[in-house]
Formats: sequence, C-alpha cells, structure tokens
Amino acid sequence: MFIKKDLNADVPSFYEDICLQLDALMDDAPTMVSQLANASALLNVYLENINWVGFYLKKENELILGPFQGLPACTRIAIGKGVCGTAAQQLTVIRVEDVHQFPGHIACDGNSESEIVLPIIIKDQLIGVLDIDAPIKKRFTEADEKGLKTVVEHLSANLKRNA
Ligand code: SME
Repeated sequence: MFIKKDLNADVPSFYEDICLQLDALMDDAPTMVSQLANASALLNVYLENINWVGFYLKKENELILGPFQGLPACTRIAIGKGVCGTAAQQLTVIRVEDVHQFPGHIACDGNSESEIVLPIIIKDQLIGVLDIDAPIKKRFTEADEKGLKTVVEHLSANLKRNA
C-alpha cells in the first residue's frame, strides 16, 4: 500500500489528507478489526512525535485493547479510569498536555509525556476510543484536536458498515 504524505501541508490540510486516505483504506476492509488495524498503521505513519496510537473498544463496563501501533499496552481499562476511561465516561475529547499532571493516568509506555483520547460514537453508542500518546509534552494542539475530531468522524462513518 502506497501512502503519500505531504510534509509541507498546513494542519487542516494535513488532517484532510489523512481522512481521504482513511476512507480509501477502510472502504474495502471487511471487519472492524481489519479497518482499525489499517487505521492505526496509517495514523502511525502520518503523525510525527508520537509513541503509541490505537484503539480501545468498549465491552460491558470496560475498554479492551484493540488494534494499535506502539509498545504492548494494558489490555483492560475500566470506564472512568485513566485518560481513556475518563474520555469514555464523559463522552468528550481529553487532551492532556502533561500526563504526569493527570490524576489516575495509566502509564503503559514510560516515554509518554502527553496524550489525546477521542471517543468513537456510532448511532449514539460509544464503541471505543482513539488514544494517541506522545513522548513530548504539549504535543497535541487545539488544531490537532480539531483535525483528529474529523478523523474520528471518518472512522465512525466507515466503521458503521461493519458495526
Ligand atoms: N494512558 C492511557 C492508557 C493507555 S496507554 O496510553 C496506551 C490512560 O491513562 O488511559
């Protein structure tokens, strides 16, 4: 699979480009796992200065590790715990500039310094979260948050077919 990345793109165009490629990539993937596996690989190639990107999927009252790129991670996170569980509970995006200042942060990779977690909602139901960790503080700006929200909209629309 050929991935072309425009290194000179401004932040909105950068995320628009990711969305286009995500649509193409997810279109013919037959299951949610294959869709999310390629989505995590695509995001890992595109995003600079990150050390973990992937998905936790909701099952009963927990988030269970899904497809990802990065170091092995904890497999279960209770809803309400850590950054992921908090985003899942509050159904909001959580952007953490310094994970050491986030009470209850779960450290899977000791190199993580900042993090963003976005809930994935399909037909009014939380199905999981997109979690991205970075080895530098304040990695994710407001513009990244906005761009990643559009990424998650595209993810949800594509996942709908296999949900
Ligand atoms: N830091 C997350 C746990 C998942 S790892 O970052 C991959 C949290 O606090 O929920």
